[in-house]
Amino acid sequence: MNFDLENYLKTLRPWIEKALTHYIETSPTQSALLTKAMGYSLLAGGKRLRPVLVFAAAQACSEKNPLELKDQVLPVACALEMIHSYSLIHDDLPAMDNDDLRRGRPTNHKVFGEAIAILAGDALLTEAFAVITQTPTDKVPAATLVGIISDIADASGGNGMAGGQIIDLEAEGNPLKPEELEHLHRCKTGRLIAVAVTSGARLVQAAPPLINSLIQYGQSIGLAFQIVDDILDIEGQTETLGKTSGSDEAHQKSTYPALLGLEASKEKARGMVDQALASIAHFSTAADPLRAIAHYIIQRQS
Ligand code: IPE
Ligand code: IPE
Ligand code: MG
Ligand code: MG
Ligand code: MG
Repeated sequence: MNFDLENYLKTLRPWIEKALTHYIETSPTQSALLTKAMGYSLLAGGKRLRPVLVFAAAQACSEKNPLELKDQVLPVACALEMIHSYSLIHDDLPAMDNDDLRRGRPTNHKVFGEAIAILAGDALLTEAFAVITQTPTDKVPAATLVGIISDIADASGGNGMAGGQIIDLEAEGNPLKPEELEHLHRCKTGRLIAVAVTSGARLVQAAPPLINSLIQYGQSIGLAFQIVDDILDIEGQTETLGKTSGSDEAHQKSTYPALLGLEASKEKARGMVDQALASIAHFSTAADPLRAIAHYIIQRQS
């Protein structure tokens, strides 16, 4: 495979940034302060992995290029970034991971206080679903959007990310068995990453066998992503990460390195990336962005 991921990201990220800025600026509000707090975290950079995955999956299933897909993909792509950013604001709260730095800035509650931070998260989550409804229905049938909304709600709620966060908190100082830790990581992080992939496929009306392959791909890179996040919390630098390294150990979190050690954790992450690549081996070169993203997930430094 000879695919230039850096160039791909250089094309997509400005579209995503512009659209996110637009959604924040045009979101109806009762409080300019609340809008400011939402934008503070949402527009603070970040890798934009989830929106990029929506594009890459749509491309893999449709053989269209990003520009041809832009109008039909961008609202759902941005909605996933809004849900992800909400999850980060809440994850950092004193009652959760109690972290002070995120995306290279003081965390939302450090700047705006806990009440505003909680509400900024609530508003981002809720507005995300309003943004999905801005998808042009001449490009994506309303029934398809309803299915996507249902998937995203399930992946974010008590059965997905929020459910995983509870398991994460309960596992502080209380080591899990390997299969329990895998379940935690699949819920708190894997579900939202996997739904980014399947949403991209659904937006272009992909056939069920393709979607099934992409579910496997998404779940595998989702697990790999959180294992690498755990590894970077030990091996990464605060400066590069934009968040404080060593936070997991300080909170006695149940993580892969804590349970298996660093080498076995890296081996597990590599194995999940291999599984992801195998799941999409039968796709054409239109899936090269997905392939490149799978490699990127274990090579990343932030
Ligand atoms: C961090 O996500 C939280 C996890 C789910 C591991 P990212 O590493 O994608 O954070 P940003 O979006 O780039 O800031
Ligand atoms: C985060 O896991 C999962 C979320 C759903 C936000 P972490 O707590 O490890 O994420 P970071 O390391 O703070 O970004
Ligand atoms: Mg956490
Ligand atoms: Mg955290
Ligand atoms: Mg972490």
